[in-house]
Amino acid sequence: MEIYLDTAHVADIAKAVKTGCISGVTTNPTIVSREGTPLRQCITAIAAVDPALTILVEAVSPTAKELIDEAHRLAELAAHVVVKLPMTPHGLAAARSLSRAGIRTTVTLVFGLTQAIAASCAGAEYIAPFVGRLDDMNMGGLALVRSIKETFRAQAVGTKIIAASIRSCQAVADLFTAGCDVVTMPAAIFWKMLEHPLTEAGLLQFEKDWKTVPGTL
Ligand code: E4P
Repeated sequence: MEIYLDTAHVADIAKAVKTGCISGVTTNPTIVSREGTPLRQCITAIAAVDPALTILVEAVSPTAKELIDEAHRLAELAAHVVVKLPMTPHGLAAARSLSRAGIRTTVTLVFGLTQAIAASCAGAEYIAPFVGRLDDMNMGGLALVRSIKETFRAQAVGTKIIAASIRSCQAVADLFTAGCDVVTMPAAIFWKMLEHPLTEAGLLQFEKDWKTVPGTL
């Protein structure tokens, strides 16, 4: 069970990593474009926060051959890069070749069970169903993840599920309960995950009562 942050914003990543809960970071072209810095600089800065972070970086080339070449370059950017490949015939062909070459891959933009099956058969290490985008269209993101998990279990395949496009803490809880290996979320949702009004109330009470305890440690 791993929490990833779905952002390339280094200050947000550094702050959240300090909690000890974050194992990785996911990016995509939209996320990187928000930072206004070149991709290499962006990924190097994220890796400098914590060299142990897994960093997902998306390949965008139009053909399988070019995706493969691009993936080799992306894999060199940091110690633990996983290359995201599109859920297309070219992306699947690249996943097959890259997995044989020992380069870690995620097939991204997964919206259906048969897509997840194809990506697993192509040797992807992860598949990334976009739960929130399905929910936005009332198309059952959680139900899709449950059926993918059930299928992978029934077939005893090791492909991992990284649930993406997260809109709420409830989605995070439901997706881990459904068996997702990773849930990647915006920083704001990560911080919300840690909160509970009873924790705050309990701390205030303990602070008040502690003041009445005589002596020091
Ligand atoms: C993850 O890497 C995905 O690209 C991302 O979660 C998509 O999120 P969005 O649907 O909020 O754009």
